[in-house]
Order: sequence, then structure tokens, then C-alpha cells
Amino acid sequence: MNILGINAYHGNASAAIVCDGRLVAAGADERFNRVKYAAGYPAQAIRYCLREAGLELKDIDHVAVPRNPYARLGTKLFYAMRMPSFARERMKVLTKFTGIPEALAQAFDTDPGKLAAKFHRVEHHQAHLASAFFVSPFERAALLSADGLGDFASTMWGSGDGSHMKIDGAIAFPHSLGLFYSAVTQYLGFLKFGDEYKVMGLAAYGEAEQIEAFREIVHPHGNGFRLGLEYFTHHRTGPEMSWADADKTPALGKMFSEAMEKKLGPKRNPDEPLEQRQRNLASALQLRLEEIYLGMLKKLAKRTGLKAVCLAGGVAFNCVANGKIFDKTDFEQVYVHPAAGDAGLAVGAAFYVWHQILGKPRSFVMEHAYWGPGYTREEIRGAIDANGLGTSGCRVEELAEDNLMRRTAGIVAEGKILGWFQGRAEWGPRALGNRSIVADPRRPEMKEILNQRIKHREIFRPFAPSILAESTGEWFEK
Ligand SMILES: [Fe+2]
Repeated sequence: MNILGINAYHGNASAAIVCDGRLVAAGADERFNRVKYAAGYPAQAIRYCLREAGLELKDIDHVAVPRNPYARLGTKLFYAMRMPSFARERMKVLTKFTGIPEALAQAFDTDPGKLAAKFHRVEHHQAHLASAFFVSPFERAALLSADGLGDFASTMWGSGDGSHMKIDGAIAFPHSLGLFYSAVTQYLGFLKFGDEYKVMGLAAYGEAEQIEAFREIVHPHGNGFRLGLEYFTHHRTGPEMSWADADKTPALGKMFSEAMEKKLGPKRNPDEPLEQRQRNLASALQLRLEEIYLGMLKKLAKRTGLKAVCLAGGVAFNCVANGKIFDKTDFEQVYVHPAAGDAGLAVGAAFYVWHQILGKPRSFVMEHAYWGPGYTREEIRGAIDANGLGTSGCRVEELAEDNLMRRTAGIVAEGKILGWFQGRAEWGPRALGNRSIVADPRRPEMKEILNQRIKHREIFRPFAPSILAESTGEWFEK
């Protein structure tokens, strides 16, 4: 049985295919169209998944879409009545969403009437939870989805047992830990969709002097939290996620209010230099996120009595916070879906259909994140020839495996920067060694060289360390 998961008309548009309960392929559209966080309809990712699985559209039995327009309908109607512009936006998205079967048929030049697949709507956060639990190695686990916003909720928790998940609670719009982080990210002058990870990096360079102010901006409430809404605008203007039809780049509307500027001082404009004040604010923001997030996890561990937890949603990308779970909660095992953000919804929705709806037993664990396209030697040779690399002054050599490793290690040790490409592409935003830029970390100047020559990114952003698995204990405490 073949299930196609599609995250469409949302940031991080993506597709995944699950055949007889096993993941075969998963890809975000950004990897194919080179637009970071690309929204819209993921036609290229769908094509890739079908190709990788050796299937045609007619072979798909179920299509799982991680959105349920009927979820929290009362809250949506309440806001729609107060905000006509928000109601119009929702209608536009809803029209697009209900047209997914037609869009799928159109992309494959098929008559929608000929699609044999059954379509399923899976609520956004249940798809996040499914993306973490159903592919985790745990038979039983506590579950948390912590996010910006999806299907009008920001957070959901529950527990999983075998092929079934039980939802115990959720936090509805406008209270959102993800939007809290996004609003302060904007206030600090990082305006692009998805810039929150930059602020997480910046936080390491500051002191959380203004933590008390942040404790007023968001505070614990019951099993979750509440925002001090006077510091935000999204509850008045509606959650404004839009994307340019031309290039599919998603964007968020402004979310912080004048009260936030009064509380924290004037905002920073993107062209202004970063000062210690902003580093300190980033540090306080990060600390407050950790207090709330780890506080929720601590209570979840107590309530469920479970030792394993599965995490997804954009906040689950906050690896600084995740690194403290073992110290601050009773959890002893953690699984984070590698595409914890909305790309992962495609995998989650597909597994939700397989287990939660069809009741099939578990038979798959996602033990790696390499679910994207791979290329044969012949295809690589063909690409080198087709682009004239061999004749453009670039030296092309083909090396045997052992020689390749020795040469590579030598090049890195000489202080050169290396592009490394092997196997199938990573699923999720992290370069995990199959599509990576590699450099010698022993050289203090290397970070600057990498930034100047290749990455062109802010100096405060960290690079990922890569070490031999058997040396883990020498470098990490856990
Ligand atoms: Fe989400």
C-alpha cells in the first residue's frame, strides 16, 4: 500500500512517500527549486518521491495532507468575525487547500476523476506528533509538538503507544512559543522567514540581563503558557504568513507591538550594527524559551511517567534547549524528527494514515536522515560533462575509495575548504555529511575564511562539529 504525504500551501512545502509502512523518500521543495523554505505546491518534491519509489500517480492508494480546515473552527470563526482581512486570507488558503486533488492531477496531466487515491486531512500538530513518534525507536513515549502556528494551534501534547497516539492537550492561537521567538527575532532586526536559528546562535554571545522583562512577555499557565498579548500584534492582525507566487518565498507580517519596544528599548533595523544590547536580549529570549519549553516537558514527564519523549514542531529545532532536557526533566531518551519543522508534516501525515487511521502495526524506525535524491556515478559524470567542468580549467579526477579518503583528509589538514557529496541528500535543514562543506576546525581563522569565501553569513553563527562516532565521549558529556 502506497501513501503520499504532501505539505502544500504552507512554508517548507514538501512530499514523502510511505510504502507498506516504510519510508521510501522524502524531500522539501526548496531542495529542488533552491528557494529557502519554499511554500506553495511542492510539485517537484512529489515527482521526486514517485520517481524514487518507482511509482506513478495511479499507484498511490492514499494521499495525506497535514491540514484540517475544520480544526478549531469556533476559534477561527471568532477571529474571522473580528478581522475581515484575516477571514479573506483564510478563504484563499482554504480554496487552494480543497483544490489539492485537482492540483495534483493537473501537475501530472491527469483527469482528477482518474485519481484512485483516497484523500485524508490530518490536523497540523497531530501530523507533527506522528512525524516524531511513529518513526521513533520507542514503543511508548510522551509527545510534544511546539511550534509557531498550524491549524490555529501552536502546541500539542499527548502520548504514543504502539500504533496509536492519544492527544491530551493543546494551546490555541494566539498563544505560541514559536511566534514569541519569531516576534523577538523580528524586533532584533532579523526579518526573514526562518531567521530564528540565527538569534539562537547570537544568544551565546550575550548575558540574559533582561530576563525579568521576558518573564512578563511569556509566562507558564496550566500545562502550557500564555503570552502577554500587549507585546504582540498577531492576535489583532491575524497570523500573516504569505508567500510570493513568483518565487514561493514565505514571509511573516510584523508581530511585535510598541509595548515591546517600550519594555525592551528601541527595535534594531536590519541595516544597523549588532550591539551588545541585542546580544543580551537574544540571550534572555533564549533563556525564557528554555524555561517555558523545559517547564512544559518537565510536567509532561511527570504526568505521563514515561521516560522517552518525541519532539517535533519548529521549536524542536532549538538544539540549545534540547541539550538541557536530560538535566531539567525526568526524560531519559529523546527523539527529534530531523525535519522537525513543517517539511516533516509530509512524513507525519503519511504515517498518521498508516498507523492511526488504518491501524497497521509499527515496522519502521528512521535511523538516518538520508531520504533525498542520490545520483549514480554515471549521472555525476554526465553532469560534469554537460556543464563543461572538465574543459573549463577545472581538474576532474576519479579516485578509488581508499585514495579518496587519504586525499580528502590531506586537503582538510592543509587548511583547504572541501565540498563533500555522497549518497542521498539529507531530509531536514541540517547538512549531515552527505551534502556538506568541510574545513579544519583546529584553525581559529577558519570560521572567518569560510564566511568570507563561501557562506557569507553572520560571524556569530556556529558551524557544526563533525567527529568520529567512537570519539563521542571525548568531546561530549552526554
Ligand atoms: Fe508546524
